[in-house]
Amino acid sequence: MSSNTIRIEKTTQSKIGSTDFSNLEFGAVYSDHMFVVDFKNKTWENPKITPFQNLTMSPACSVLHYGQTVFEGMKAFRADNGDILIFRPEAHWKRLNQSCKRLCMPEVPLELFMEGLTELVKLDNQWIPSLEGCSMYIRPFMYASDEFIGVKPSSTYKFIIFTSPVSGYYKGSVKVIVETEFVRAAEGGIGYAKTGGNYAASLLPAKQALEKGYHQLLWTDSKEHSYFEESGTMNLMFVVNDTILTPPLSSSILAGVTRDSILTLANDLGYKIEERRISVAEIVEALENKKLQDAFGTGTAATITHISQIHCNGKDYELPAINTRKISNALNDALMNIKLGKAEDKFGWNFRIKK
Ligand code: COI
Repeated sequence: MSSNTIRIEKTTQSKIGSTDFSNLEFGAVYSDHMFVVDFKNKTWENPKITPFQNLTMSPACSVLHYGQTVFEGMKAFRADNGDILIFRPEAHWKRLNQSCKRLCMPEVPLELFMEGLTELVKLDNQWIPSLEGCSMYIRPFMYASDEFIGVKPSSTYKFIIFTSPVSGYYKGSVKVIVETEFVRAAEGGIGYAKTGGNYAASLLPAKQALEKGYHQLLWTDSKEHSYFEESGTMNLMFVVNDTILTPPLSSSILAGVTRDSILTLANDLGYKIEERRISVAEIVEALENKKLQDAFGTGTAATITHISQIHCNGKDYELPAINTRKISNALNDALMNIKLGKAEDKFGWNFRIKK
């Protein structure tokens, strides 16, 4: 597919002039356009870029009933020379298709994904915020669009990409509570797929944690509630004995692109890493003995978010001051410098669109 197959209808009413870029909140403002392509008769057809607008659908649209939908989250940044840098779009494309497979949805060809993404981000490039800590968040997603309420995979789908200028997901570090009643995902389920159902399952426990005064929770395994899985909407890492500990990927853990980037950089910078099951008991012991040097979440929206307090077994444990957390701070700087084009992109992560 070449770019001239994407029909482009530009908005005549840009919202950019009325957008306050100095006061961005995560996920509240959307750029002017969106990319849309339909899956019908077993093929992707009619790719177009249109003004950002509402979708119309039948009340019987199958996604509304059975949740056949997947999404991704990526970020674009502006380099000092004006080029646009999109971070690891191919890794996100791969994960999107893994999610699609699990949800019985059609895969998106790489060329279609990249062409739609490139044309959209080029057209709305003025929406990439320049303020430090801000970026353009890119939300590709797909949903089942059959007008049919029998339970079966839909035969039609829409794949859409829209973008949103954002600041950080969390304002600073977070207090978390170890969750020992609810689970985010079970082995053999859909936890590794980026699909709405996993987030829906998280809402009640997250709301209850918030009511108790914690920003988020630490998910534990579905069998015993004894091993850590994720943190809120992020992957989870600890530092003990100058070693980064993180749970290994499994069917109940999302394969975070930021997780992979942090582990790759940590390895490159010579830090010790252990990808293994991490028990709640071992972390509580480290907390009791003041051996827990760091705990943080990783994700596209949140990048690295430090955990300042962990609640477990009726007790609040304070973690070391953020400025003492040498490893995660160094990794965050290394990652951001690559994303912003300030450091050598030695792993070939940035997709560059020349200004
Ligand atoms: C992301 O980091 O992109 C996420 O998936 C979090 C999101 C649900 C806001």
